[in-house]
Amino acid sequence: MNRVLFCPPTYFDVLEVKNPFMQNAAPVDKNLAMRQWEEVRRAFSRVGFTLETIEPVPGLEDMVFSNNPVFVGVHADVGPFVVPSRMRHPSRQPEVSHYVAWFRARGYRVVELDYGEEYLEGHGDLLWDANFTHVWAGHGFRSTRGGVQKFTAVMDEMGIEVVPLELADPRFYHLDTCLAPLAPGAVLIYPGAFTDTALRAIRRKSLRIYEVNLDEALRFVCNGVSANRSFITPQLTPSLKFALLNERLEPLCVATSEFEKSGGSVCCLKLFLE
Ligand code: ARG
Repeated sequence: MNRVLFCPPTYFDVLEVKNPFMQNAAPVDKNLAMRQWEEVRRAFSRVGFTLETIEPVPGLEDMVFSNNPVFVGVHADVGPFVVPSRMRHPSRQPEVSHYVAWFRARGYRVVELDYGEEYLEGHGDLLWDANFTHVWAGHGFRSTRGGVQKFTAVMDEMGIEVVPLELADPRFYHLDTCLAPLAPGAVLIYPGAFTDTALRAIRRKSLRIYEVNLDEALRFVCNGVSANRSFITPQLTPSLKFALLNERLEPLCVATSEFEKSGGSVCCLKLFLE
């Protein structure tokens, strides 16, 4: 059974500008945020996932974005493991130990990196390709190139390939805002978010690439999630519709307006456990 981890938006808010979406954001409607979060959970449950929950912590307003504080992997010898993140914003750094404790208590091995001055923001920037053959690794705004290099060195030892992708547009500050793995060999991207070198790497590694335009990307379609032959998304735009038809994925729309004020949507709110 596939499991997915969520953190209730009990203390969710926009208090500080950590990305361009948070600049001049309208106030968060807390009740609506809770309803939207529950709707996102229901969508994952509907497509066959078991839901897990981590206790929210007062004062950690972004802890709801469970996709960021750790990277989750599994390895034949090591077993299930997590790599704790080093978050760029001091206000998000305390989230990490709460997540690590949750995983430790459930038998995951904790693989610590010696970050020094580098940053790495979990699955915000590290996305498993749909066939689990490699990890796409975004850097430039939150995770640093050096953070990705340190991660790559450890994954190398485990035989896990990492493909670094430099990001070029501050509005797409995390890789999960501009790239969504759809199916083995197939990705959805907003090309304007990447450097030319990164685009070449994506082309080299992918069989089918579906592009969305800036307007679609700003509506968080690349933050949709491919899950058990469905694609859970905040919007169904023309380019996305075409991609899903081609890949035979069923769209499942959920509203995430309150989380978008913080720069996040479906992908950021969940953490796959396998
Ligand atoms: N406000 C959060 C931040 O800026 C949003 C994180 C969104 N998460 C993601 N995986 N893109 O850190």
